Order: sequence, then C-alpha cells, then structure tokens
Amino acid sequence: MENKQTINHRPSVGGAQDLFYSHSDEFPRPTIIKGEGAFLWDEQGQSYLDASSGPVTCNIGHGNKRVLSAMAEQAGKLCFSFASTARNKPNLLLSKQLTELAGDGFERALFVSGGSLAVDMAIKFCRQYRYAKGETKRHQLISCQPSYHGMTLGCLAVSGDPTFNDVFSGMINISSKIQSMMNYRFAGDVSEHDYALQCAQALESKIIALGDESVLAFIVEPVGGSSSGAISPPELYFKEVRRICNKYGVFLIYDEVMSGLGRTGTFLTHHQWSDAQPDIVVVAKGLGAGYIPLGAMLTSASLVDELAELTGFNYAHTYNANPLACAVGSAVLTEIIDNNLLENTINIGRFLQDQLKLLQSKSLTIGDVRGKGLLLAIEFVACKSTKTQIPLHYQATEKFKQFAAKQGLLIYGRRSNNGLYGEYVMIAPPLNISRKEAELLIKRLSLTVIDFESWLKKEGVL
Ligand SMILES: Cc1ncc(COP(=O)(O)O)c(C=O)c1O
Repeated sequence: MENKQTINHRPSVGGAQDLFYSHSDEFPRPTIIKGEGAFLWDEQGQSYLDASSGPVTCNIGHGNKRVLSAMAEQAGKLCFSFASTARNKPNLLLSKQLTELAGDGFERALFVSGGSLAVDMAIKFCRQYRYAKGETKRHQLISCQPSYHGMTLGCLAVSGDPTFNDVFSGMINISSKIQSMMNYRFAGDVSEHDYALQCAQALESKIIALGDESVLAFIVEPVGGSSSGAISPPELYFKEVRRICNKYGVFLIYDEVMSGLGRTGTFLTHHQWSDAQPDIVVVAKGLGAGYIPLGAMLTSASLVDELAELTGFNYAHTYNANPLACAVGSAVLTEIIDNNLLENTINIGRFLQDQLKLLQSKSLTIGDVRGKGLLLAIEFVACKSTKTQIPLHYQATEKFKQFAAKQGLLIYGRRSNNGLYGEYVMIAPPLNISRKEAELLIKRLSLTVIDFESWLKKEGVL
C-alpha cells in the first residue's frame, strides 16, 4: 500500500467526482448553481450556453415548468412504490405514451434508472429468452469498436474501448468486436455505399467465425456518441445488419440512450428507415432529460409474452418503474410532442450543420462535421488534407472544452480509446433551442476555434 505521506492530497472541496479523476485530468470545472432553458450560470455569475445538453441529456433545457410541476405534484402524492409488489399509475401512463411513440414492435417497456441498467436489462432479456427456449449455447455478444454502452460490468463488456476492457478482462466476458462504420478515418477511397456493405459484411464474418449457434446479440448505436463522434451510418448499413441478424437468429439491439427521444429528428432513429427495425431498443438520457434518472428497454409484446409463458423475466432493481421518475418521463414526452420538438430538431439541426461546415471551411483544425438532427460532432486534426491527428499528448478534446468554457460554452466530449480514433466534441444543444440561441452557439464556437488554433500555433503544432 502506498505511503500516505507521499500522496499529494488535493483540497477536499466536497463530493465532486473530479476528486476521483486522474491528476492529469485536472482543470477548473465551474460550479453551476442555476439553469434556465439552454443556459447555465456558475457561482461567479458567468453564463454558459449548454452546447451539448450536458452529456446529450437535457433535451428540453433547464427549469422546464411543465416538468417541475409534474414532479412536485407527483412528489406530493407518492414518491415510491416497489414494482415487484405494486403497480403505480405514472408507470402505466408512461408505458402507454412511450410504447405508442415507439410504434409497432415495441409494445412493452421496462423502466430502470439509467442507460447502463437499460442496456444490461436488454442483454439479460436476450439471454433469458434463448435460455428459456433451450438454446443455452447462445451467449456470445458482438458490438462495435469504438462504441460506448455504459459503465456497469455488463456494459463495459460490450463497450468498444480497450482502456476499460484491459482493466476488467478476466472478470467479464468481453464481447467480440467489429469495426464501427467510421467513413472519415477508415473508408479511404471506397464509396459510402461499398463501405457500408463491407462493414455489415464484417458482422456476418464475425458470426460465422464465432459459430452462429453461439451468438446471442449484436448491439449498436444508430448514431454514435462521444466514443466515435456522432458517426451516422446510412440506412443501407442497418438494413444489411438486420438481414444478417435474421439469417442467423441473432438479436439486434439498438442502443438509443443518446440518439433516441427525438434527438436525431424522429422519435427513434430507425423510424427514418424501412426494414431495419431492431428487436430491442434501449433509451435513457433524454427520457428523464436531466430532471430524474430514468431509462427503458423496449421490445415487442410477442417476445415478452412468449418469455412470460416460459420462465418470465424476473430481474428487478429497487427503483424500477419508480412513480416519481415515471411522472417526470411523462411530462418530458408531452413537452416533446406538444411543442413539435422533432420539427425544431430537424430545422435547427440543418442550420447548425450548415454553419459548422462553414466554420470548417475557414478553420485549420476542423477536419470533419457529422451527425444527424441535433446529435452532431466536430473532429479535430492537425492537418485537414492528410487527416493527421493532433499529437495525443496535447489532449485536444480536453483543451478545446476549456477554451469553450472561457467563451461561455459548456461542451461535452469524452476522450474514449485515449483519442486513438480521433478527437471530437459533441454539438448537441437542447431540442427546443431557438434559432437565435443556435446563432449564439456558433458565434461562441467560432471564437473558441480561434483561441484553440492560436494555442496550437504557439505550441508549433500548426
Ligand atoms: C450510447 C450510450 N449507451 C449507454 C450509456 C450509459 O448510460 P448511463 O450513463 O445513463 O448509464 C450512454 C451514456 O453516455 C450512452 O451514450
């Protein structure tokens, strides 16, 4: 054990997770004390535009009156009842609303308290179903490299990031990986059409290599999050993936924890495609929208009913289907639908993409702009023509976030895979952001790019 005397203790400012982070990850994080709409304020009174809705979570902004009053009203009636022993009305209402919005094939919803638990439930559901049907050999999972599916041990096993896997391998059954469809870095001269087919073909090859009777499920993000910087594979890719999963009896899970709830312009991303519907969808972040921890696994009535006839699916967490959380989720859904936020997402998303591309054309370091709806990302490079990365030790993502905060923008970007697949930040403001606020976002982002590039010039990188 390390001698306590030798550790350089940092002041205990109380509770914040940054005390647990590496000392090399130390930068001044503002203490936020107030939020309203798309803005946040710190204790010094500085305001920030919430350019990524926290970690792509606060989809309807801060301080929403409908949600706050639904929360207060429900809290006054009932905060808790346990799903295994009693039903509650907010859960019944939210299930009805959510499954109707999700559409055919998603008539059942199981509510947990976040994205990781929902992903965990989805994996367990697939396994329990096959087990109950006597197909006990099916236990192998396939996922993408890079990807992110959450922080429980089950989720780390499928997340495509060896910086986690190295620590926990031996304790968990790490999934088999196929390359994510990252056109910008890996397609080379291959067309998007052919590259999509190649990437989907990799799934079939992997299933055959593992032995098709042993493969349980393939899990994929329809639009990537911060592990890949909003990569957005075309419909063709997902159609092929669906065809291959059908051929081998492999469950297809879409992890829409980040991309769901309207963020890409439709309630679920696959609503934009035909013949590419998954068996299971997982949602979270935008469902509680930063007001309460909430996630859900959605699947068909036929699968759930069939399993219920056999063994049932008896995995409960204490806060499953919590009435307070469900009441908040209902108010969030009503807010999205009543205010036409899907339409706003498409319109402002298009405006922001155009503006980001303009910014890219003027900048030295924005190599790529990508994404769908209001799930966008910009990728940084040292040289646009060669796509050479900024040397990793400069920690470009972290540095950009710091410059952005100085310009009044809070931006999310998590350096996954130690930056090996690129450095990117997410441009994903609340779905109800106005055109004027989106213009302000671009103005502050442009100033941030100037600061960032001046620093890189001083460092001799540009
Ligand atoms: C695609 C995806 N899946 C799962 C998760 C895990 O969700 P949570 O942090 O709510 O556990 C995240 C979180 O960022 C995510 O982006």
